[in-house]
Amino acid sequence: MIRSIGIETSCDECSASIVELHLQDDTSRPVVRSLCTYSQIKEHRPFGGVVPEVASRNHLLQVQPVIEQALKDANYSYNDIDVISVTNRPGLIGALLVGVTAAKGLAYALKKPLAAVHHLHGHLVSPFLLDGDRKNNDVTYPAIFLMVSGGHTQIHVIHEPPHLWGASLLKDSLVGHSQDDAAGEAFDKTAKMLGYPYPGGKYLDEAAKGGNINAYKFPRGLPQKDNLNFSFSGLKTAVSLEIKKSFQESNRSDFAASVQNAIVDSLISKTLRAVDLHKAKSIVVVGGVSANSHLRSRFSVESSVPVLFPDLKYSTDQAAMIAAAGAFMHAQGRSTMDYLHLNGHAVAEI
Ligand code: KG4
Ligand code: ZN
Repeated sequence: MIRSIGIETSCDECSASIVELHLQDDTSRPVVRSLCTYSQIKEHRPFGGVVPEVASRNHLLQVQPVIEQALKDANYSYNDIDVISVTNRPGLIGALLVGVTAAKGLAYALKKPLAAVHHLHGHLVSPFLLDGDRKNNDVTYPAIFLMVSGGHTQIHVIHEPPHLWGASLLKDSLVGHSQDDAAGEAFDKTAKMLGYPYPGGKYLDEAAKGGNINAYKFPRGLPQKDNLNFSFSGLKTAVSLEIKKSFQESNRSDFAASVQNAIVDSLISKTLRAVDLHKAKSIVVVGGVSANSHLRSRFSVESSVPVLFPDLKYSTDQAAMIAAAGAFMHAQGRSTMDYLHLNGHAVAEI
């Protein structure tokens, strides 16, 4: 068993988690022993979005308390840890540096190795996290992974379970991506136009309940059949024009439902196309937008292969996915004692 502490500070969640990775030949089980997350949403809300400097300052205050709470909740002492796993890319550079520096300090003091985790690798691991009675997600391969976070919208074709994923998995498996805004940004920007606080995805989701998805016509980006890329910038412009032209308070839920359906339509049609092209046997949806109720219900009806989601608490950013990804890296010999020059990277190759 590998005992990993994860630290995640790439954006506005300051999070630490203890995960135990039980290694087996055919499948490996990452079990979450604790997860402590301080969300900074209320600090950023007055500004209508995440302010990098505010994020860094708050991470400085919160990183040590969340680490200590995660250890306490797991009934762990510092010496029980085998590997320190930290998000070092991509994200807000000042925010990343707080987590990376805390992780380096811990690794140095404890004489333990460090695993530098790509944030998106963490999201890909999130559906495999186990706690309590939750059973392993039954992913059959090849699987299409749809990654829909606040900053990324990507389609990956993955052929094997996470204990076999190599260093170049993100790059090697990528078959589609957004050419402009991410789906999360499309949700947040259109929600903002409708007056919802940041981050607006879940408010748009709520507002759309019971609304008519066909009340307003909005464009779908890059509708060409064989193109697995996305574009959401045209939708943003169309929503802004339509708000000026015809939005009325009495139509709010129809409007929200139509916007949401336009975003979900693109995500589903491209993912199902990827399933056909790559003869996939299952779909896995990860990242914050995977919490969207319309996306979840449409996928379950429209897909001919099983569609799996992370537990809701693991959809959005948290350190359990980073602890698990780092534990898998450690198991493969991809953690390091040579971490003193390790840095954060705002922009990262996948
Ligand atoms: O993965 P995540 O927590 O952070 C990043 O890595 O970016 O994703 C955050 C995104 C935000 O855009 C947020 O509005 C969106 O996930 N989100 C949702 C819902 N819950 C979170 N979007 C649509 N419907 C939701 N229920
Ligand atoms: Zn994320």
